[in-house]
Amino acid sequence: MNIKPELILQTINGALRNRLLYPVGHPSVAAIEKKTFNILSLYMERRKKIYFAIMHDTMIFDEVPILNAASICSDLINRLEEHSIEAVTFEKGFTEAELGGMIDILQTEKKLDASTIEKLVKAKRLRKININAIDKAERCSLEIYDNAIKALKNVMGDVRLGKIPKIDEIEEVVTELVDTVLTDPNAIIGLTMIKDYDDDLYTHCVNVGLISMSMAQAMNLDEEDLKRVGLGAVLHDIGKVAVAESIIKKPGGLDSGEWEKLKAHPVMGSDIVQRMAEIDPGVVNIVYEHHMKFDHSGYPKTEDRSNPLSQIVTIADAYDAITTLRVYQRPHLPVEAVKIMMSYAGKHFDPEVLGVFVKLIGHFPIGTVVELVNGEVGVITAASKPGAESPAIKVILNTAGESIYPPRDETLDTSNQSSFRVVTPEDPLYKKVNLNRFFEDQARKDGKDKS
Ligand SMILES: [Fe+2]
Ligand SMILES: [Fe+2]
Repeated sequence: MNIKPELILQTINGALRNRLLYPVGHPSVAAIEKKTFNILSLYMERRKKIYFAIMHDTMIFDEVPILNAASICSDLINRLEEHSIEAVTFEKGFTEAELGGMIDILQTEKKLDASTIEKLVKAKRLRKININAIDKAERCSLEIYDNAIKALKNVMGDVRLGKIPKIDEIEEVVTELVDTVLTDPNAIIGLTMIKDYDDDLYTHCVNVGLISMSMAQAMNLDEEDLKRVGLGAVLHDIGKVAVAESIIKKPGGLDSGEWEKLKAHPVMGSDIVQRMAEIDPGVVNIVYEHHMKFDHSGYPKTEDRSNPLSQIVTIADAYDAITTLRVYQRPHLPVEAVKIMMSYAGKHFDPEVLGVFVKLIGHFPIGTVVELVNGEVGVITAASKPGAESPAIKVILNTAGESIYPPRDETLDTSNQSSFRVVTPEDPLYKKVNLNRFFEDQARKDGKDKS
């Protein structure tokens, strides 16, 4: 019998809803739970294990994305989100009592955390049904990154509607990002290699936030400053919301009128940020000063030297812009970007702050693709430690150009220049490496390793 996943989700949703409407023991409750059990058992006749889960805001049932889930099982989605439940799995042979136990847990009014759910699963003797909750403290960095993008979209959406955005949501994600930066700066730089061309303004702002915070941490700034830098960096281009998209995305050069409009974004941005309740003036400064250069060139024009915290963001902004594909520019390799930026030391960039950046990113930055002398291909995943020129790499392709899974850890001997070569985007080998996918997988794996 062919049972559609939609029908199962709808029935589970009905069972949840009935529990809210009637007391346990009511015939309607028992009837729909029996129906849910029968339908699920039937579906599992030819399957050992199934699950439903929410991934990237989409309900997945037995590996199939359910695109109309919001209209057929909104209660279920709400319960999963409320308790931060990632997935529910059923193994063949689960009992009706276990299904009842699962519904008990899901329909709990109070918000449950991961450890309480684990205790409840044990207490209700769920052996063949498992409920996986996401432990907030152990959420993978990729999720925190996604949340930051979402929060930023909300803020910019508010600005577009003429509202004064609230800072709370952004503040919360920046605090989470600060924690991640403090525990694993390398994983963070890896995240900035995931470039999403559709959402380039949001991705760019979050990337600049991550690089800036890693620099602030390397400079041993206190947590308050780290947060200030994070917030300023994440919001630095908020003024672009007020600039016409046709100017921002214009492929060729801008005429002088368009250029003036674009150049107004730091001032417009700082005006927007200033109006946010309880905003730290240091954050407003960063937004205002992020295009001011060390040698007083740049904009807005002023004789004052920009704040050291703003210089951090200026440098991170330049790096992300240079390494990102734009309508008008192919991306430069991280290695090239560092070289270009070093040539502006003392001109555009404060040499001291730039020094911190170069030390952090390394002369062989994270995300650089290298071909080893034996023909294998690897990606640099951790910058060389100061004093030791040996960045960590993951070898991902074998000599035949096939994927190695899981990737093999190695260090790159950069003192021996003939032991490897940097693979450029023009090289056919480069096309075999999906850097976005690679760093996404890494971020997911890092999250799992920590849990
Ligand atoms: Fe900008
Ligand atoms: Fe920017």
